Amino acid sequence: MCGIVGYIGSNPCVDVLVSGLEKLEYRGYDSAGVAIVRDGVLETRRAKGKLINLKRAIKAEPTDGLLGIGHTRWATHGAPTVDNAHPHRSGEIAVVHNGIIENYVELKRELVGHGHVFASETDTEVIAHLVNHIKTARKLSLVDAVRAAVRRLHGAYSIVVVDASEPDVLVGARLASPLVLGFGTDENYLASDVSAILNHTRDIVFLDDGVLATVRAGSVTLTDIETGKEVEPVIKRITWTPSMAEKGGYKHFMLKEIHEQPRAIADTLRGRFSLERCEVDLPEIPVTAEQLQNISQFYVIACGTSWHAGLVGKYHFEDLAGLATHVELASEFRYRRAPIDERTLVLAISQSGETADTLAALRDAKARGATIISICNVIESSIPRESHGTLYTHAGPEIGVASTKAFTTQLAALHLLAIRFGHLLGRLAPEGVVRELEALLHVPAMMEAELEREHDYASIIRSWHQVHSMLFLGRGNLYPLALEGALKLKEISYIHAEGYAAGEMKHGPIALIDEDVPTVVLNPMDAHFAKVRSNLAEVKARSGPVLTVATDGDAEADEIGDFKLTVPDVPETVLPLMMSLPMQLLAYYMADFKGTDVDQPRNLAKSVTVE
Ligand code: AGP
Repeated sequence: MCGIVGYIGSNPCVDVLVSGLEKLEYRGYDSAGVAIVRDGVLETRRAKGKLINLKRAIKAEPTDGLLGIGHTRWATHGAPTVDNAHPHRSGEIAVVHNGIIENYVELKRELVGHGHVFASETDTEVIAHLVNHIKTARKLSLVDAVRAAVRRLHGAYSIVVVDASEPDVLVGARLASPLVLGFGTDENYLASDVSAILNHTRDIVFLDDGVLATVRAGSVTLTDIETGKEVEPVIKRITWTPSMAEKGGYKHFMLKEIHEQPRAIADTLRGRFSLERCEVDLPEIPVTAEQLQNISQFYVIACGTSWHAGLVGKYHFEDLAGLATHVELASEFRYRRAPIDERTLVLAISQSGETADTLAALRDAKARGATIISICNVIESSIPRESHGTLYTHAGPEIGVASTKAFTTQLAALHLLAIRFGHLLGRLAPEGVVRELEALLHVPAMMEAELEREHDYASIIRSWHQVHSMLFLGRGNLYPLALEGALKLKEISYIHAEGYAAGEMKHGPIALIDEDVPTVVLNPMDAHFAKVRSNLAEVKARSGPVLTVATDGDAEADEIGDFKLTVPDVPETVLPLMMSLPMQLLAYYMADFKGTDVDQPRNLAKSVTVE
């Protein structure tokens, strides 16, 4: 996600803003900017790339003042350019924004109709124009104009707004995107993240959703956006070190990112469907019904965890769209002469968008006439740039090398794409579209609840942290989750682990089972329940310790296995999403107990740009 810093007080603030943005650099960004109110005039400085470029822009044209906002942007709508960098302005009003405005296209149309001229491709710019429009048309104060404007926004936002004509106030608001308020002496701060302002204050209010903050140098008022009623600020004294603050109080980025998944999935779904029309809208994927009907081959290419996401996608594409799907390791596919022609559709999946093997496989398929679509988390990275269309996941930057939120947002994006294809091919009736969408829409809240069960892992970890090898078994669309569970464990705890399709057990791996080789059995109440439970019994019969990942309320699982974790009873198509959490948390707690470098595991890189 992007980073926000805002300041109002009695000191010149450009250094506070830029140094605050530096503290947010770890989150990743592709452009940055500040807006300062100087002597009643709004001045902006923006730059593409790293903060050093912004510093150069400020040095070339110095600015400073007692009120200002700053932003580091991780592009979601529009390329990382100077024009798309925040702050965005409309007249003397400037806005910085984190999140996604779902209805920006309608709002933009309306504002253009009122004569507003847009300078960027971003969703954020509509907020600046909307505030300006409402303020002027209704002759409101900035605070009231922001309140009226945010009530028209659909989506997720944390925003901070300044207006050169009201230089004594900084206004912030949030909905489903973090914003904190920091108290100083004759100065106050707003930021997306505590770490941005920790050098100046440790007295922090974590703003709740639906709250508007009116911040002046010597006072702060919080009000409910809808009712206008005052809200009492709950000030917390933060004792975190700067490194803890970067991780939002979590011990590792990986754990923070695991906890960010409900929000990341909601952001990935946001604005991409209509329950009323029973449709998924993906204008970024230029594949027509006619093209789908005439496909010669459909390949999904990826590496590592993204390949596991592709394997789950195969179940979605085949079940929901009736589309025969070949999921290929990009490093193998690039050297095969697989049949490819002008009627071939290739879907490349990559969180980074820079993986060398995936990129090479994509280029080869493209050169041979295939249509290339991709799922990616990094806007304007190489894979999207070379694709005919890209469905971006909105996970925000992932810092832990072990992929977590990038994986689950890929699963959500694949599910959306399969619903879309199913609809285009006439395989999925409107009721089916709604059923799948509703299942997906319930996932974030269910994940929130599941994330509160972390204590369930303690006894497992105490018993198993010294093992040298583990097996993961799953069947159907949970077979890829068995692979992913094993990969996560290997990557960060360095414990050898293998994932298998449960039905393959008796064809070899069963020979490994003894009292020192635990098996994690993914055994919820799905279509494969009884068969997988038999596999579990086979492991127990050979003295193998078992962790069963079962459906809530499955009492038998307590008796048959040694340990149990549970997932809620959800439709099968979203089981892989829910099953991701126990796979990730098991690996995380195992690694943390062993004391390995969870975020930077040995020998691994976040972006594998070499073959
Ligand atoms: C995941 O935990 C891994 N670090 C790794 O397998 C990764 O998924 C793989 O390198 C592919 O990366 P990409 O998604 O950026 O293409």
